[in-house]
Amino acid sequence: MSHPGPGDPDLSKLPSHIAIIMDGNGRWAKQRLMNRINGHEKGADAVRMIVRTCREIGIEYLTLYAFSTENWQRPKAEVTALMDLLKRFLKSESKEMQDNNVRLDTIGQTHRMPKGVRDLLYQNMEMTASNTGLTLNLALSYGGRAEIVDMVKQIANHVKNGQLEPSAITPEIVADNLYTRGMCDPDLLIRTGGDMRVSNFLLWQIAYTEIFVTDTLWPEFSREEFIAILADFQKRERRFGRVLHT
Ligand code: FPP
Repeated sequence: MSHPGPGDPDLSKLPSHIAIIMDGNGRWAKQRLMNRINGHEKGADAVRMIVRTCREIGIEYLTLYAFSTENWQRPKAEVTALMDLLKRFLKSESKEMQDNNVRLDTIGQTHRMPKGVRDLLYQNMEMTASNTGLTLNLALSYGGRAEIVDMVKQIANHVKNGQLEPSAITPEIVADNLYTRGMCDPDLLIRTGGDMRVSNFLLWQIAYTEIFVTDTLWPEFSREEFIAILADFQKRERRFGRVLHT
């Protein structure tokens, strides 16, 4: 955006944390009489575009719903292809992340991911740990309810060990025991593919998040549409349950 115009977002008021439900890869492929896997491959190109755009404009956190706990129930060939795609992405983007100050992070039950994916994930996380630009946070084998169950177990253990009084449990303590500990909540959640649902994504964290649903299928999501959503986001008044104007 070298020449900002009237419809362009104000780069000094961007959301700190953007979360995206990247839906519609399968439908994109079906429309073209292609295999669903081709849709995911095209979707990976859109991932590269969104990561590049977010780091260029100075977003702090980008959380992408890349694989849900429910996705394990897809046909074996599709799961294998998605794991393969993730490996290829982690290999091909490694240098780009390091060269551009991007920090890689992950949320979810990553121990359930195949070793090949885990190894590349942890290597890239370690390599980029001290980077200070965009944090690319990949939700892998992620489910919001599973995250809440894990948080409850962790807090229950602290109580059992005598480290914490039940009466001392606060929203901050809950947040500190979620996979997203240390991250701010998303300001903006984008869902492509047109479905009006949250699909078990960041259930606690999206309490006050602005939600945008677009009919565009993920492989066709463009930089232009993303920038238009950012401009629209800035027009919304976020009240966090309070009254701002009387
Ligand atoms: C939903 O589309 C998308 C997924 C389950 C996977 C998302 C994965 C990618 C975008 C590519 C790989 C990711 C990275 C980070 C390289 P769907 O298959 O549910 O689409 P449908 O609703 O049209 O069937």
